[in-house]
Amino acid sequence: MLIGMTNELTGKVALVTGAARGVGAATVAWLHARGAYVLATDLRPEVEDLAARFDRVSTLAGDVSQEDTAVRSVAAAIDRFGGLDILVANAGRSVNKPITETTAADWDELMSVNARGTFLHAREAFRVMRDHGGGVIVTVGSFACTVGLVDAAAYSASKGALAQLTKVLALEGGPHGIRANVVAPGVIETDLLDDFRADSREYLRSFGDAHPLGRVAQPEEIAEVIGFLASPKSSFVTGAVVAADGGYTTA
Ligand SMILES: NC(=O)c1ccc[n+]([C@@H]2O[C@H](COP(=O)([O-])OP(=O)(O)OC[C@H]3O[C@@H](n4cnc5c(N)ncnc54)[C@H](O)[C@@H]3O)[C@@H](O)[C@H]2O)c1
Repeated sequence: MLIGMTNELTGKVALVTGAARGVGAATVAWLHARGAYVLATDLRPEVEDLAARFDRVSTLAGDVSQEDTAVRSVAAAIDRFGGLDILVANAGRSVNKPITETTAADWDELMSVNARGTFLHAREAFRVMRDHGGGVIVTVGSFACTVGLVDAAAYSASKGALAQLTKVLALEGGPHGIRANVVAPGVIETDLLDDFRADSREYLRSFGDAHPLGRVAQPEEIAEVIGFLASPKSSFVTGAVVAADGGYTTA
C-alpha cells in the first residue's frame, strides 16, 4: 500500500463528472487513494490522462447536459467495474457577467450543465442504487446555493436549483439507503473562469479577503469534504448543504 492510502472505499465504484481538472480531478485522486474504482467523465478529452495516471480509473468523454451521457456513464460504471455506489456530480460552468449582459444562451447553458446535467446523472445513478441496496450522491454546488453572487445570476440560479434537487434526492432516497448531500464551496483556485479570463486562477485568488479565513480554497480541500460525504464516515448525513467556504456565508 502506498503512503497516504487507506482502504475505506475498497471495492466501491464511483462516478465523478467534470473530472478532467480542478475539483473533479482532485476528487478522483482522493477516491482512488482510498481503494475505489472510478469512472471519470468530462467534456474535455484530457480526462483520458487520469486512466494513465491511476489504475482502477477508467474514463468516458461526454457532455453532462445530454441524457445520453448520463445513461452511458452509469452503464459504463456497471460494465467496467460491476456496479455504482457513489456519484459525485461535479461538472459545472460559470458565466461571469452583470445581469444586463447575461444572454438567454448564457442562462440556458448554465441551467443545462449545472442543474440539468446534475439531475440526469443523479436520476440514472438513483435508479441503480435503489435496485442494489443504496448508495451515495454528492453534488457540487457553491456558496451561490445559499447566497446570491454579484455578476453571477445564471450561476446562482443554477446552483440554487442543484441544492433543491439534492434535498429531494435525500428525501426520496432515504428509504432506499441512498444518501444525498451538497458540497457548497467558496472560491477555489481553479481554471473555472478561463473562458472569460486568461488569469482565471489569479482572479479567483483575489477573492481571498472576502472569506473570513483570508484566502480561497485549493481543489484538494474541497475533495476532502466531498470524500467525507461519499464515505461511510458520514453515514447519518443526508439532505445537507455542507459549506466549505472559509466562512464566507457565516455572516
Ligand atoms: N472554482 C470556484 O471558485 C468554485 C466555487 C464554487 C463551486 N465551484 C464548483 O466546483 C465544480 C468544479 O469546478 P472547478 O472549479 O474545478 O472548475 P474547472 O473548470 O476546473 O472544472 C470543471 C470541469 O467540468 C467540466 N465540464 C464543464 N462543462 C461540462 C459539460 N457540459 N459536460 C462535461 N463536463 C463539463 C470541465 O471540462 C472541467 O473539467 C463546479 O461545479 C463549480 O461550479 C467552483
